[in-house]
Amino acid sequence: MKCLSIATGITVLSQLVGLSQAFYLPGVSPTDYEKDSQVPLLVNGLTPAYEPSHQSLKSVISYDYYDPRFNFCQAKEGAEKQPESLGSILFGDRILDSPFQLFMLKNESCKMLCKSSYDRPDSRFVNKRILQDYTFNWLIDGIPAATQKYDPQTESSFYSIGFPLGGFVEEKPYLHNHYDIRVDYHETRQGKFRVVGVLVTPKSRANSIQDDEPICDDKDNNHVILETNKEHSVGFTYSVTWVESSTPWATRWDKYLHVYDPKIHWFSLVNSTIIVGFLAGMVISILVRALRKDIQKYNEIDLSEDVQEDSGWKLVHGDVFRTPERSMLLSIFLGSGSQLFFMAGLTVFFALLGFLSPSNRGSLATVMILFYTLSGSIGGYVSARFYKTFGGENWMLNLALTPLVVPGIIFVVFIGLNFWLIFARSSGAVPFGTMFALMAIWFLISVPLSALGSFVANKKEKISVPVRTNQIPRQIPHQPTYLKPISSYLISGILPFGAIFVELYFIFNSLWFHKVYYMFGFLFVCYGLMIFTCITVTILMTYFLLCAENYHWQWRSFIASGACAFYIFFHAVVYWGTKLRLSGITSNILYLGYSMLISFIFFILTGSVGFIASFFFVRKIYATIKID
Ligand SMILES: *[C@@H]1O[C@H](CO)[C@@H](O)[C@H](O)[C@H]1NC(C)=O
Repeated sequence: MKCLSIATGITVLSQLVGLSQAFYLPGVSPTDYEKDSQVPLLVNGLTPAYEPSHQSLKSVISYDYYDPRFNFCQAKEGAEKQPESLGSILFGDRILDSPFQLFMLKNESCKMLCKSSYDRPDSRFVNKRILQDYTFNWLIDGIPAATQKYDPQTESSFYSIGFPLGGFVEEKPYLHNHYDIRVDYHETRQGKFRVVGVLVTPKSRANSIQDDEPICDDKDNNHVILETNKEHSVGFTYSVTWVESSTPWATRWDKYLHVYDPKIHWFSLVNSTIIVGFLAGMVISILVRALRKDIQKYNEIDLSEDVQEDSGWKLVHGDVFRTPERSMLLSIFLGSGSQLFFMAGLTVFFALLGFLSPSNRGSLATVMILFYTLSGSIGGYVSARFYKTFGGENWMLNLALTPLVVPGIIFVVFIGLNFWLIFARSSGAVPFGTMFALMAIWFLISVPLSALGSFVANKKEKISVPVRTNQIPRQIPHQPTYLKPISSYLISGILPFGAIFVELYFIFNSLWFHKVYYMFGFLFVCYGLMIFTCITVTILMTYFLLCAENYHWQWRSFIASGACAFYIFFHAVVYWGTKLRLSGITSNILYLGYSMLISFIFFILTGSVGFIASFFFVRKIYATIKID
């Protein structure tokens, strides 16, 4: 079993390493079927759904379709695993073979799958999953089985991915054991057909099988209610209808990608763009004016040789480039942050170009890992360059720690959360082989690339700074309240958060409700806005800090810029309190754990951007004034 996992790990690794292979993902090119040829139906894990009528999500754990407690019918030769990309596995896809037999254009009215028996614990398990609004996730030819829904706002019907495991009658949960599968097909050429949509209407039928014959007659049929005081035998059946559709293969995803309220989305994006643009413009104009005045004043004083007291940021010229505390950690964070910055930018850009279509399951995550790995040398370079600039001596340690600290923290938290998933017997638990593949990618590609970057940076001179640092540090005067650490972080974090607030809502929905995320245009704009606001706000704060003769701007600018991550976490907690009704400790821990991980990644990314911008700002302004 273990060997098998390792083998899968190596396959995944080899798939990821080859760049061309990484973009190969099933479902990109159309499959033509002939009449009566078999069209495989694949099953993915069962996931909890957001049920609008209940206004909440109750769990975040997914379960394997063949979890023995579900007692679903097995494929004849045992369920075969389907090849999946690394990202797809990491994001919880477990796609397996199924016993359903569908043949192109062959309508079937009532076919029997199997008969299963449910003992008491299994009944209790299934009932609990029905209460938590779990849904089936099936795939036919790469597109998900859906239920048809109607959006009264746009007056259009759309396909909502997945269909429910069961329902309720008189407060009692019942299990769906009959599936009416409707497949939309499109004829491309004479005798060649493509699948362009799948709808499933599930039903619950108490007497679905009699004398080993399926009965698909809705007359006086009761629901399958799994009482937990006795054993039950349940028969599973399905019907298939093939319906001609005018939708071509290329646009078959359109009806799945339904935007609930496109107007609101646009409105809020434009809104936040204007607000952010306005504020940033104000910040920049204030800053430029103030700076111009300062520089003029400082240089005049020098010329007239007046015995006038210097004031403001000029006073700290002898300390402004003093080595910050924990310069090793700061440079490591800067390296990792730059790496994340490049990864995020490249991913969003590629997505924008349309490389990551939703039919490439998990391609987003795969591409993210790929880009993160490949920008390893950027991380090493930035880290070593700043470490040297800070006057660090132990460059070997910096080289070794840069690719280990931040990914290590992420990995440890990830493994910890994975234990909870294993404990909950969730299919979302990442298998050993995949973990092994991740480690291999990390140590065999990312670490050497990072070391290479460090090595190159170490050969270079340190970044030149315009002023010399004095031997004795200056006393820092009393600071105004708004420049006290906590208040300055709270103030500076809110603007970048405001830039991404709207998009964050959609990202969270897609993460937790298993919705397809595809609005990369919005995401691209938001990412740009966020980076832009981080830079302007942090520069302004650094300026105020220096004006108050406080030269500890290095960590302050990093944290101030990264402070939007605190708001992201806060937002996640609010979302948790209002939108989610997670039952069970595992779901709650997983939710908070993943939110913390996301916030941490944001913190490192935005913090680094803010610091680097401030660094070049400080370097620039001190280069413009004369110092005797
Ligand atoms: C299958 O049944 C549906 C609904 O009765 C019908 O519209 C369709 O034409 C049938 N398809 C074939 C290939 O017979």
